[in-house]
Amino acid sequence: MQPIDVGDLQLSEQHDTRQTALFHAIREKIVQDLWSKGSKLPSTRKLAVELSVSRNTVIYAYEQLVTEGYIESRKGSGFYVSVEQPEHFLNSPQPNLVQKTSQLATQAEVARRNIKTALDINGGFAPGVPDLNAFPFAKWQRLLQRHSTRQNIAGNQDVQGSVALRDALSGYLASSRSVRCHADRIIITAGAQQAISIGLMATLMTGDELLMEEPGYRQVHKIVDLLKLNLDGVAVREKVGLDIDKVLSSKAKALYVTPSNQYPMGTTLNTEQRLKLIDWANKNQSWIIEDDYDSEFQFAHRPYTSMQGLAGKLGLDDRIIYVGSLSKVMFNGLRLGYLVVPEHLVTKCLEIKDALSGDTASHTQEALADFVREGDLLRHIRKMRRSYKLKYESMIDAIESEFNGDLEVISQAAGLHVTVKWDGGISEYEWSRRAELDNIIIRPFSFYEYGSSVERDWNGALLGFGNVRLAEIKPKIKAIARLFYQ
Ligand SMILES: Cc1ncc(COP(=O)(O)O)c(C=O)c1O
Repeated sequence: MQPIDVGDLQLSEQHDTRQTALFHAIREKIVQDLWSKGSKLPSTRKLAVELSVSRNTVIYAYEQLVTEGYIESRKGSGFYVSVEQPEHFLNSPQPNLVQKTSQLATQAEVARRNIKTALDINGGFAPGVPDLNAFPFAKWQRLLQRHSTRQNIAGNQDVQGSVALRDALSGYLASSRSVRCHADRIIITAGAQQAISIGLMATLMTGDELLMEEPGYRQVHKIVDLLKLNLDGVAVREKVGLDIDKVLSSKAKALYVTPSNQYPMGTTLNTEQRLKLIDWANKNQSWIIEDDYDSEFQFAHRPYTSMQGLAGKLGLDDRIIYVGSLSKVMFNGLRLGYLVVPEHLVTKCLEIKDALSGDTASHTQEALADFVREGDLLRHIRKMRRSYKLKYESMIDAIESEFNGDLEVISQAAGLHVTVKWDGGISEYEWSRRAELDNIIIRPFSFYEYGSSVERDWNGALLGFGNVRLAEIKPKIKAIARLFYQ
């Protein structure tokens, strides 16, 4: 448990003795929740030296705090902030100062309850969270340890990213996604988010037109607003997919697409459609930002070759920026992703990355390089593909049996979520609100709309199943069905 830094602990002159002053000073820290439950207090000797008081003063104050239940003494280990807040303190009338601090304590408690814990925001049915329970963390720890004491990677690093990692990724991307890339064309980033930001900043200027799937990935809307780009939505229709004709008739400077598993409609672009878009980009001298999201987790068919790979075969990959992420195939908190860009764009992208964040955490990159090179990434992906397929099937079965056909799954058999729609009945907001009260996440469909002019006459939502245990799927679907019909 975290040791306490005494920091600004002040002994007030108001009190008769130093002991009492210290008792009140520490109690205030605890009650205000500045010293959190379970934290270790400094030893009596250390605190006495730090505050220039006698050790007896500290011992007396600690004893008094123990008696009143604010701290506890653990044999041979020291003093810790007590797990239980002393109830009498919150309930009984106290002098002025104490009343004030009691209010603060209550406020702190309320605030803490309002902050969602990591578990809440990553739990069922949060979209975009992989199975955190299934990741081989022991192996990952060994790899991190292997590199943790290497001095030669402890200083400033290449902004483009570790050569070992770029080499490993170039092999992986070539064999699994047919991406044409030498390590020199790969740039390591802080997730797909930074990769997309860099890609857009390197190719577009304020006011330039960007075509983007509508509905589409909310995180890209944020970049569009930040860079003041001119967004033109391209409709993605249920089970049909992207309105290719609209793209082909546009003179926009760039197109952002998720061709493997359109987020959130769950459609895919076939090879013919991909080729049409590649041809459009070349004729129009426009850019394609290909976010190859969910390409690894296709359950019904083999994934299509990436657009970058297809274009590369034809010698037309000059206008394609390929974006990848480790968030779904490993875990989100890793915050690593990559860009594969044409050679002539590398320098510009590196200048932007340098300005935004400088280089990337080196030890993590080296561990990841080994994880890819030693085959652990592929093994994990294969294992998870089987596991997610089972979860997906369980979701479909449970939705069918609990919603009597009122809920339709419109997304393809892929990825870590299902997209559902329904007519009439409860609104997507209300369903989501009710679920939140039960600590279940249901993402309303409108989350993915960027002020669309097209009126939608149905409700929709996303249900992520990646981080829900297989056995929990049915009971959880039952629970949200109850809220749906309530
Ligand atoms: C469409 C899409 N692309 C990429 C990502 C991965 O983003 P990042 O690597 O920034 O976590 C996500 C995550 O949910 C996503 O939905």
